This record gives sequence, structure tokens and C-alpha cells, in this order.
Amino acid sequence: MAKRLLSPDMKKVIVTGGAGFIGSHTVVELAGAGYEPVIVDDLRNSEERVLDGIAAILGRRPSFHRIDCNDAEALNALLARETPHGAIHFAADKAVGESVEDPAKYFRNNIGTLAVLLGSMREHGAHHLVFSSSCTVYGEPATLPVTEDAPDQNATSPYGYTKVACERLVRDQCIAVPELKAVLLRYFNPIGAHPSGLIGELPRGVPNNLVPYVTQTAAGLRGKLRINGSDYETPDGTCIRDYIHVVDLAKAHVRALQWMEQRPAPLCEVFNLGTGRGNSVLEVVKTFARVNDVEVPYEIGPRRAGDVVSVYADTTKSRDVLGWKAERNLADALRDAWRWQQRLAD
Ligand code: UD1
Repeated sequence: MAKRLLSPDMKKVIVTGGAGFIGSHTVVELAGAGYEPVIVDDLRNSEERVLDGIAAILGRRPSFHRIDCNDAEALNALLARETPHGAIHFAADKAVGESVEDPAKYFRNNIGTLAVLLGSMREHGAHHLVFSSSCTVYGEPATLPVTEDAPDQNATSPYGYTKVACERLVRDQCIAVPELKAVLLRYFNPIGAHPSGLIGELPRGVPNNLVPYVTQTAAGLRGKLRINGSDYETPDGTCIRDYIHVVDLAKAHVRALQWMEQRPAPLCEVFNLGTGRGNSVLEVVKTFARVNDVEVPYEIGPRRAGDVVSVYADTTKSRDVLGWKAERNLADALRDAWRWQQRLAD
């Protein structure tokens, strides 16, 4: 990517969780589009070397502040100093099982941080917000592909509930603060890595999610992938998800900011971010093995509690209204995920 110099009139965007998986890729795309990302991350679930990866791609080190988003004083001081144009709020916990064991942690870290950020944005006149939501709000959808107006389901986990509650909080804040513009982005299953191999996902411990488990198994770090059930009512018996390349997802955040800027406040809109295609767990495993020419030993295990059978996005609204669509396919994402895994082993 061409080196872009900082200029005083660049719009500053606070990126909470900017050292994380989706956050780091979004920082790269924001900088490429002429914004000035300001990373806020306490590195509880990420590592400082991510900043080196971002710097290697951009040709300069991004602005970084080690702050816990629940620390209102620190966040307020930062916003007072930087007077940002807006914020993208990624910082959150996302392990479904852990949220069942420690719901208070999820309420504090997911809902609490959003409340602190919104208060600070209001005080300092930052009136553009992009919020990371999830297709978890749909639960098991009644019809597929799922559209944005499908009813929210009863959340099946405290994690899921925090996303529903955060969406509600943003909507309420948009009513209370007429200058505020907000976009809620409902991610399907983000996978892959930057094609440079310089940034990607850094799961701590045993991965919960499918693709990091697949890459670690292929690399010999795990013995066998366990497929969580093959007796579902799907063509091959395994669950179906909409896997989206993290670079496509990152670009959607830039597009969301640009889209908001062209519209009057108040504004609060929700968009699905997926490819519109559903792939089964077995398809992911077989595609990974084929495109990377590696073996992925696997066995069939029992179903995982709380899994939905099938969910994939209707992407009509994000294409027609937001003007965004995914450009990379499953094979591209799995190639990039493998490149990143190999890089990690170096
Ligand atoms: C999960 C969460 C979702 C959250 C997302 C982000 C649930 C029900 N949903 O998505 O709300 O937003 O993570 O972290 O937990 N699989 C295997 N073997 C494995 C790992 C996964 O077969 O070792 C299967 C799963 O059972 C599922 C599919 O792969 O059918 C995708 O799983 P995963 O990557 O964990 O994502 P979700 O469960 O869709």
C-alpha cells in the first residue's frame, strides 16, 4: 500500500479494539481511505506486535493508546485531546461459553464500554459511530437468507444478549442525541487474514472458532479437528454459516463512515455483513485442504450446545443502500488464513 502522509485535516476515528482481529484490518483500510485511525486497546486479548504488522503494511506506526474502554476518565481525556470525527467500537468479549460462566464480565465489558464511549462521544462532539454487532441477534432464523428486519430472537447466551442490548442502546442514544449518526453492522462469520500475511487472528489458547482450529490442526499444533455434529438437517449433516473475508468486512466499516457522512442526522441504520452464501463445516474443511494442499485430520463429535443449524445473510440492503458487497470468496479467505498461520509459526 502506498505510504500516505498525515495531514492536519484528516478525520480522526477512534478504533476501540483496534489491535484485535477485525479492528486491525479496519485500521489498515481506514488509513488507506484517508482517515486517521486512533487505536484504543488494552491488549487484554491482543498483542502489541499487531501494531508492527499494521506499521509494516502502512509504512508508518498507527497512533495507539493502551486504555480500558471502561476507564471513563482516560477515554474522556483522549477524546478531549483528539477531538475525533467519530468512533468504531470493536472492543468486546466474544466467547459464547465463557459468557455463560461469567455473565457479569460480558455485561461490563460489552455493554459497559459502549455506554462509556457513547457518553464520551456526546461530551466531545464526536457524532459518527459504527458498532460491531453480530448475526447472533437472529438466533435460529425462521427464513433464509436472513434479512435485517427479521425479528431479534431471545438471545441464547449472555454474549448474544449483550449484542441485542448494545444495538438497543445505540438506537436510544440516537434519539437522545439528535446530532448522532450510527451504523450497526451485523457480522456473519469473519475469517481469513490480510493477504500480506502481516496481520491476522491471534486466538489465545485453544480456539473456539472453526477456522483458527482448522489452521492450527493443519499446522500440526492440534491433533484432530472435531466437527461438532453431522446429524443436522443440512445436505451433509453439518452446520451452515456465511464465512466472510475479514478484509471485505474491514472495507465495509470505511464505507459505513462515508455513507453516514453523506446523510443528515439523526441516523441509525443496520446492515448485514456476509457474502450471502452458506457453507457447511465439512465444505470449509475440504475447501481448506484442497486450496492449500494440506491435510486436516478430523473426527465427527457430538453437537455443540447452543449452535444454530443454518444462518446466512441476505445482502440486498448492504449492496443497494450501503453500496458494499463482499469481493472475496471462501477459497480466498482460507488461503489467506493459511498464509497467516504459517507466518505465525516462523
Ligand atoms: C460463534 C458464536 C457467535 C459469535 C461468533 C464470534 C455460537 C453459537 N455462536 O459463531 O455468536 O458471534 O462465534 O466468535 O457459539 N465448529 C466445529 N469444530 C470446531 C469449531 C467450530 O465443528 O472446533 C463448528 C461449529 O459448531 C459451527 C461452525 O463450526 O457449526 C462455526 O463455528 P464458530 O467458528 O465457532 O462460529 P459460530 O458458532 O457460527
